[in-house]
Amino acid sequence: MPPRPLLPLLVALAAALPVARAAEPPMADLIRDNFTYAGAQYSTMLTRLQGDPLLPRTAAAGKTVTVEPEDWTSGFFPGALWLIHEYTGEAKWKTAAEDYTGRLERIRHYTGNHDIGFMLGCSYGQGLRLTGRADYRAVLLDGAQALATRYRPEVGLIRSWDFGPWQYPVIIDNMMNLELLTWAAREGGDARLRAIAISHADQTLANHFRPDASCGHLVDYDPATGAVLKKQTWQGIADDSAWARGQAWAIYGYTVMYRETRQPDYLAHAQRIARFILDHPRLPADKIPYWDFDARDIPAAPRDTSAAALICSALIELSSFVEPAPAREYLAVAETQLRSLSSPAYRAPVGENGGFLLLHAVGQYPQGKEIDAPLAYGDYYFLEALQRYRAKLAAAK
Ligand code: GLY
Repeated sequence: MPPRPLLPLLVALAAALPVARAAEPPMADLIRDNFTYAGAQYSTMLTRLQGDPLLPRTAAAGKTVTVEPEDWTSGFFPGALWLIHEYTGEAKWKTAAEDYTGRLERIRHYTGNHDIGFMLGCSYGQGLRLTGRADYRAVLLDGAQALATRYRPEVGLIRSWDFGPWQYPVIIDNMMNLELLTWAAREGGDARLRAIAISHADQTLANHFRPDASCGHLVDYDPATGAVLKKQTWQGIADDSAWARGQAWAIYGYTVMYRETRQPDYLAHAQRIARFILDHPRLPADKIPYWDFDARDIPAAPRDTSAAALICSALIELSSFVEPAPAREYLAVAETQLRSLSSPAYRAPVGENGGFLLLHAVGQYPQGKEIDAPLAYGDYYFLEALQRYRAKLAAAK
């Protein structure tokens, strides 16, 4: 056999290696740069918001769109301000975080949807963690009781929405609200709240997922018997598709439920979801997913940086609970995601993007809303992922 030419062999070998990281900044520098950037960009956001009592959700045509405290996204901006305060230690971010957190006080008894866990957890929850304020703790305990009113023992799940054609709709996003209940059970001594969270996670595990560990968006239940009536999507491309943010809520939610309960089936499930995402043939090399893994027009389909930020944050936490080999893999993917999100391809120039950090997210594609737009929750989970990665670096020292 004639010898193979050396150059093509070397080229093939180079292509098989992970992206060379030697030329890239160390992660500690990348994290510092991102918080410096976030401070600059959110300073412009605070200027934009002057005189507006509401909370930023997205931007359209460069203009910031703000929402009432009852909107499911209301807690993310206050939460992001707390995370910037935590990193920088600067008092001005604490002042801003307290201001925007306090705007949500009126929803402490809100029972209009299942999202109170997001809304209060990211705002008051982060504030409590960083300040220990007793009044914040009281708001969170009230919020947990409000959330629990949406639970029916006959179904064993918390009802997500009150609108729409469904009888008892439960969406995968609802996994994100359970942490408020497990926390409140510990803090307030009401064991019923923990039982509700576990029942919800168990029923969701039983009914939302497919054999490949991907999940649909919505399951409708019979409110009298708990029987499954229908499985469909609301924000994905199809009932049987893998809507990217849905997969992100799922991996994040089961990782949290494992942290909160140490039940091995939650950990195993989070790892199965991780495999679905990380092995997916349509997950791009930069690890920023298309808005739906089954979007029709891949590779032209929009990406979703909010799903990427969520998956990234979840993978970093999940890496703490698994064997060294998967932990290394999860952290390597999270690093790629953080580097991608920090690049000009996904991070907005200061002063643009309605004051938000990340470009290119998708809110509700089928409804034609927030397509290729910034989203407050994308920013929040990006900052959370950076903080979590920073904690990993500190622990490794
Ligand atoms: N929780 C709604 C969404 O993910 O868009």
